[in-house]
Amino acid sequence: MPTLPFPKASRPKEEILASMRAMRDHDLNWQNGRVFGLVYHISDEIDDLLKEAHNMFFSENGLNPTAFPSLSKLENEVIAMAANLLGGDEHVVGTFTSGGTESLLMAVKTARDVGRVKWAIKEPEIIVPSTAHPAFDKAGEYFDVNIVHVPVRSDLRADVKAMRDAITKSTIMMVGSAPSYPHGVIDPIRELADIAQDHGILFHTDACVGGFMLPFVRKLSYPIPDFDFSIPGVTSISADLHKYAYAAKPASLVLYRTSELRRYQMFVSTEWPGGIYPSPGMAGSRAGGPVAAAWALLNYLGEEGYLNITAVVMRTAKKLQEGINTIRGLKVLSDPEMSVFAIASDKLDVYELADELSLRGWHLDRQHFPPSLHMTVNYVHEKVADEFLKDLAEAVEAVRKPGLRKGASKLAVNTANFLTRVLPEKWVSNMMSKASLSLAGGDEGLPERMAPIYGLMGTLPNRGDLKELVLDLMDNINKYKEDSR
Ligand SMILES: Cc1ncc(COP(=O)(O)O)c(C=O)c1O
Repeated sequence: MPTLPFPKASRPKEEILASMRAMRDHDLNWQNGRVFGLVYHISDEIDDLLKEAHNMFFSENGLNPTAFPSLSKLENEVIAMAANLLGGDEHVVGTFTSGGTESLLMAVKTARDVGRVKWAIKEPEIIVPSTAHPAFDKAGEYFDVNIVHVPVRSDLRADVKAMRDAITKSTIMMVGSAPSYPHGVIDPIRELADIAQDHGILFHTDACVGGFMLPFVRKLSYPIPDFDFSIPGVTSISADLHKYAYAAKPASLVLYRTSELRRYQMFVSTEWPGGIYPSPGMAGSRAGGPVAAAWALLNYLGEEGYLNITAVVMRTAKKLQEGINTIRGLKVLSDPEMSVFAIASDKLDVYELADELSLRGWHLDRQHFPPSLHMTVNYVHEKVADEFLKDLAEAVEAVRKPGLRKGASKLAVNTANFLTRVLPEKWVSNMMSKASLSLAGGDEGLPERMAPIYGLMGTLPNRGDLKELVLDLMDNINKYKEDSR
């Protein structure tokens, strides 16, 4: 196992920065609009503002708001502006978090403690549509809450009746997404939140994706169903600043209808020799930069700026969706309300399609249940929409052509699937661990063509093996390698 000695001598700044730039050359190039996800970008001018504001509060620590009242004011103002945008009144409060995941962790922890303290529920349950973000499952694992997944309807939105039927005496909260990540559709939040209210339980809208976009989409006269605090049953909302607010990562908000509710989120230690220690979220020390950058951008763009940006994004998303639906064999799943959606096909292998697109320099995430390719369209994609549709049509033609390689990979998947069904479980586990090592190992990284692997993973009979395989991969990726750049 290689180790990396701690650097002995100092090195010149320029040399260090140059080596970092060289490493970055091998990453996905998001600036040119060829990545559909991960990075939200408006322009270099906006990035300069974000960096300047971020740097201004680079050293401050949000752990102690009395030490840096300016930072505390910025945070409270960002929260108040978001509450106003999301139909909240003066009673709505919130916390600035490190991202959608922390916002959801906090919403689940809050619900658990409300259930424990107010309703004496010992084994709490939260009902989520099957499309809800896995951060809810992470929260369930971390905080010992049972997350009950309810399959979605054929239009990929939450099934209201099935979710109501899933309520038990132990249910503390229901959840809906606005929109869901995998397919970009908005769950019937009003119906779900009404049911939650009738049952006297909490309701969380996960608007991590839509929180800073849907209000503007609606103002531009696109039809958007209710999803925010204007619905009386909605008790908390998560909204990510580092997604469609285009702020600096990491930045998200979790908002609560009342401060009474938010008290259940807070941690306070009163007995520590180091003093009284209060902490609102997961972190102890809290970076000031992202708060300052978000405050600066919300004020810089204002509603006017966000409406202009949203208009461009919606036009681009509609153009892409229409273009995709006119390509024979492809379709956009369901009828997404904003700019997040998935491409699927009844006839073509979409994982092969993803490989063909990768060869043409486009990065789209692969999804399963059903197999599809994910697109998060943002401002940078306006300039590449035509080129993408052209390459997509070409990629479809390439996938359509029968080829020896494709035949071989299909055969490999079919054979592997057959073997995983007929071999004893232990053998399959061994086989999977070998496969994962060869997948993760070496300096070549992942193979160029992923379709056979996705085909295999998608139909594995034993999901436990898949988890082991992914753990192996994570283990290997998160490790120092001698030849890592
Ligand atoms: C609907 C939804 N909720 C939560 C999250 C988690 O956000 P983050 O990656 O910022 O932790 C995401 C991320 O894509 C999301 O799409």
